[in-house]
Amino acid sequence: MTDLTLDSANLLVDGYTARFPDNDEPVLLDADGNEVDTWRENYPFTERMSRPEYDRLKRLLQIELLKLQYWVRETGQRLVILFEGRDAAGKGGTIKRFTENIDPRGARTVALDKPTERERGEWYFQRYVRRLPTAGEIVLFDRSWYNRAVVEHVMGYCTQDEYDLFMRQAPEFERMLVEDGMLLVKFWFSVSRKEQRTRFVIRQIDPVRQWKLSPNDIKSLDRWDDYTEAKVAMLRATDTEIAPWTVVKSNDKKRARIEAMRSVLARFDYADKDHEVVGVPDARVVGPAATLLE
Ligand code: ADP
Ligand code: MLT
Repeated sequence: MTDLTLDSANLLVDGYTARFPDNDEPVLLDADGNEVDTWRENYPFTERMSRPEYDRLKRLLQIELLKLQYWVRETGQRLVILFEGRDAAGKGGTIKRFTENIDPRGARTVALDKPTERERGEWYFQRYVRRLPTAGEIVLFDRSWYNRAVVEHVMGYCTQDEYDLFMRQAPEFERMLVEDGMLLVKFWFSVSRKEQRTRFVIRQIDPVRQWKLSPNDIKSLDRWDDYTEAKVAMLRATDTEIAPWTVVKSNDKKRARIEAMRSVLARFDYADKDHEVVGVPDARVVGPAATLLE
């Protein structure tokens, strides 16, 4: 495996270049021109999903997502899908494919910036509550109230007391939502350490991705273990029977997107469902929280 032996101080490396295959994800090459294949790290496949296979499945599953949306609308469901994970885990890219072909009336993505002064004076959950769906709506959260359990805790944006309170309240908060009939899907996107670095380097090289590289991303390189600890504590405290986590192994972005779609669709009995297309989510890619707690 061609490796990236970088620390945050010299993330800006000379010699790395990116190749842009037609209509596909960029591929990173090291100074000797070898493909950086860090995606293989602990990944249960020897090949990434091919572009034609991905395009075919994505289209079929997006048609199912539309049917799911009609069902949500017709039957007045409220559906929340929240996406969590380390930086560059592929949350945003997956949300983009979820929403690519659904009707924007009735589906929203919520990606909140850091809390404003006013929001900091409110109950922590308040600004998220304001964005929850009403009957007939789907809301996708690109990061969520779980910021407090991970980013805020690791980066020191909240106090220990605030953190402790969150860890106690999150399951109660979610119980209230679920008991009220809210459909809640919680995804943790899991990227390996070397692959995260590769993605940061690509963000530096690729002009259309540079905006995604935040100062926090760079800082997080040195905090891998702190993030791991925070993730484990979060999964232990908030993986409940009524609001379980689903882990998505996302070193192969295409597989992760496809299996995340499948995982959502497989849960609901919407009208005109094509069971053959939806199938069963691949247990090598998506699974319960225990997948990451072994
Ligand atoms: P991205 O979501 O693009 O990965 P960042 O890595 O910059 O963005 O930030 C991660 C999360 O941390 C974001 O949800 C952001 O709102 C939050 N955040 C950043 N700074 C603060 C802060 N000072 N207080 C609370 N949250 C913050
Ligand atoms: C992330 O996971 O940091 C963002 O959602 C960007 C992405 O990789 O799609």
